[in-house]
Amino acid sequence: MTEPGRREAAKGAGAGPPPFAESWDEHAEWWRTTFTRGADREYEIEIIPLVVRELGGHGVVVDIGCGEGQVARAVAAANGCRVVGVDPSHLQLANALEKADPDLAITYLRAEGERLPLATGSVEAAFCCLVIEHVADADALLAEAARVLAPGGTFLLVVNHPVFQGPGSGFVDDQILDERYWRVGPYLVEQWDVEEVDPDVSLAFSHRPLSRYVNPLAERDLVLVHLEEPSPRMELLADSIDPEFESTIPRLCAMRFEHRPRVFP
Ligand SMILES: C[S@@+](CC[C@H](N)C(=O)[O-])C[C@H]1O[C@@H](n2cnc3c(N)ncnc32)[C@H](O)[C@@H]1O
Repeated sequence: MTEPGRREAAKGAGAGPPPFAESWDEHAEWWRTTFTRGADREYEIEIIPLVVRELGGHGVVVDIGCGEGQVARAVAAANGCRVVGVDPSHLQLANALEKADPDLAITYLRAEGERLPLATGSVEAAFCCLVIEHVADADALLAEAARVLAPGGTFLLVVNHPVFQGPGSGFVDDQILDERYWRVGPYLVEQWDVEEVDPDVSLAFSHRPLSRYVNPLAERDLVLVHLEEPSPRMELLADSIDPEFESTIPRLCAMRFEHRPRVFP
């Protein structure tokens, strides 16, 4: 039985959040060379186009957890908007500034998503791409996203699909029973894993069910208006022993919310 899966190398698990902000400074160089500037096919052909497409044209957009700024640059270039990239990692932001382009309207701020240094109702759109899994207080980050959005604004949340990519989930090739299937782990259990994603690179990921994202936003009048679960492209499944089957299991889940403040008579 083999089980290749994103979470195959988990080194530890538990409910409490581990320290994480430091590790992004420590691994900024690894992130830059492995996942940005065209190095990662999934970002190039799937993730960045998805964010650009879902956001459409907006005046001011905040990128919560912007990292090295690759998504911010694409959004600013494609949609002609002003982007404010926010990230707590000094070295991620240093790499973003290294790629600064005078033709793009991007400003970077060093801050956590749980405490955005932006005025209430000041932005038309916000997005958070593959970040919230690394954040201990997801509720605080979601509350801040809702706070800074103007009425009618858009919030795009992109996560690794919690149903299929959580701890204990993955492709199973059972050669004794001659079955291939996708095993789903304990979906409702919120937990932290520390994954060795590359030799000498360990990152903390939290698993939360979808309701932990959708409901706190609904309580703040952010209504889910679109859900995107892209089928992984064949090109990304070159190492799979059953790409046809794996193309039926989404890796990503992108949720687009609209800020629709309730009006009381
Ligand atoms: C996987 S990277 C994604 C970067 C970028 N969004 C992208 O898709 O290229 C995760 C980023 O989340 C940032 N991060 C970690 N904790 C955060 C927090 N509390 N608030 C905002 N960003 C955070 C890290 O510094 C890192 O840059």
